[in-house]
Amino acid sequence: MCGIVGYIGARNTLSVLIKGLKSLEYRGYDSAGVSFIRNGELTVIKKKGKVKELYKAIDESGYNLSESGKNSISAGIGHTRWATHGAPSDENSHPHLSMNGKICVVHNGIIENYAELRSYLKKKGYEFSSDTDTEVAAQLIEYYYTKGGDQDFEGSIRRALQDIVGSYALCVLCVDFPDKIICAKKDNPIVIGLGENENFIASDIPALIEYTRDVVFMEDNCILIMTKDSIVIKDVHGEVVDYEVSHVDWDADAAQKGGYAHFMMKEMFEEPKAFEATVAPRIKDGDIYLEHFPCTREFVSDIRSINIVACGTAYHAGCIGKYLIEKLCRIPVTCTVASEFIYSDPIIDEHTLTVVISQSGETLDTRNAMREAKNRGSKTLAIVNVIGSTIAREADHVLYTAAGPEISVASTKAYTTQLGCVYLLALKFAKTLGTITPEKYTDYQYELLEMPSKLKRILDVQDRIQRFASSEFNAESIFFIGRGLDYYLSMEASLKLKEISYIHSEAYAGGELKHGTIALIEDGTLVVSPITQDELAGKMESNIKEVSTRGATVLAIIPERFAEREFSCNEKFIIPDCDELFAPILTALPCQLFAYYMAVNKGCDIDKPRNLAKSVTVE
Ligand code: G6P
Repeated sequence: MCGIVGYIGARNTLSVLIKGLKSLEYRGYDSAGVSFIRNGELTVIKKKGKVKELYKAIDESGYNLSESGKNSISAGIGHTRWATHGAPSDENSHPHLSMNGKICVVHNGIIENYAELRSYLKKKGYEFSSDTDTEVAAQLIEYYYTKGGDQDFEGSIRRALQDIVGSYALCVLCVDFPDKIICAKKDNPIVIGLGENENFIASDIPALIEYTRDVVFMEDNCILIMTKDSIVIKDVHGEVVDYEVSHVDWDADAAQKGGYAHFMMKEMFEEPKAFEATVAPRIKDGDIYLEHFPCTREFVSDIRSINIVACGTAYHAGCIGKYLIEKLCRIPVTCTVASEFIYSDPIIDEHTLTVVISQSGETLDTRNAMREAKNRGSKTLAIVNVIGSTIAREADHVLYTAAGPEISVASTKAYTTQLGCVYLLALKFAKTLGTITPEKYTDYQYELLEMPSKLKRILDVQDRIQRFASSEFNAESIFFIGRGLDYYLSMEASLKLKEISYIHSEAYAGGELKHGTIALIEDGTLVVSPITQDELAGKMESNIKEVSTRGATVLAIIPERFAEREFSCNEKFIIPDCDELFAPILTALPCQLFAYYMAVNKGCDIDKPRNLAKSVTVE
């Protein structure tokens, strides 16, 4: 979703802005723009399309974009837009200028009462040049800026915010204050990067990491006044508030492709390392330690039900969590997509633990669901990848995945590490409640510790998946079928394929297909079936027989111990053996590789699939 960058300092501002926007491209966008103040003049350059189009436009306007280029700009902001109000076009791209050209705004989020504000401003004589909600913010700030005659930059923003209903990360330039950027935040992230005689803002860490590791995550309902050597954060009443500086230890290279053709490929190759970093430090001397999370008998036995909420891939990790916790701990668990949860009048109270799962920690639906759960008295635990993100800060307890920055829109290593956390959680709860034997508890810890080397073994033979994908990429529709954990895994496999290859796909419980969907199976339909559960393998054989007799081509993903077993499939992909409960951690990787190679063969934009955004901050 939209990305924001801002810079004040001695570096070449345009180079910082363009590099920052490029590093936020993964969030998904359809146009980009910058604005800056130079020699007392405010300039806006914006373009529909990719950041490279914007780069070209800036270059053609005669500005120096080289990193070593001299800086004559006193403050600059940039934006990548993911269209909500108004189609992608040059006019609708941000930044938006106010009518007198003094105020310039970039914005993430949605101004819900924009229509009302727009007609109010129109009556006051304001003319609009775009269809966006954001332009209303620029005009409204100008209105208050000029109204009283006192030209109070900060005050006019504060006043405009009183009228605005909705969510925003707003960054504002005013030509009369050439050395200042003012930002306001509500429900959309702003990270401040602190430097020496320079300061940065961005919607996400990858845009800053090259320059600084010291960051401040802005809180909601605050205003930031930034110059090159100061940051001041105030609340809505204008009172200065304290802030905490966090140190981000992500490797700067982690946000680079490092020789891989795509971030997605690089991130799949990082799975063994990311899984190890998430799990291994939490297993010590035969026990599991979940930092900052009280796993005392008193705390855990007070939990009568668990409620998992998340979106997209994180939701699928939650489904596996539901299966595991119910199986190992005998606690009833619901797993609900966050956007549905909020309006479902959920049955939760102070004996409920709500587990929210989110890579970005910013997904608005997930945040709202967590707030709803909190309001109803539930305890909250967040499984989050981005340190300091809103969900991480608002949850009662946090368990961080150690995936490092995930840039590709299609989530891979974040999913595997989310699984790592839900396994740790289920095992620790089971141990605390005494629903697992000490022997099994020990064995299962080994299973987790062995996963990284088994993931590496899958990557070593990934060319087999590549070959299969090369012969099947023209498929028009692909079904994933599985039972038990394999069904939940199939849901994620199907999503991955849809996201990046645009091939229609559905995931079905193996036994459910015959209740309707089997009507869609015809000669050559591709069916992918993970079969990893001992007790269910026989039933799955019947289900793939049902589709193969109707002409389907079947790829079965099976563990080594089933290698010699007869399955009605055309192709087998064999994964290392493990206890069947842990199979999803391994099965996910060949499914991700399959989606990747299908999309590569089709020539799709792997890291930035059409219409998708990495971090979805609208409802
Ligand atoms: C978007 C992304 C998905 C992601 C989902 C949840 O839809 O495209 O890949 O799974 O949001 O994101 P989160 O950051 O909350 O895990």
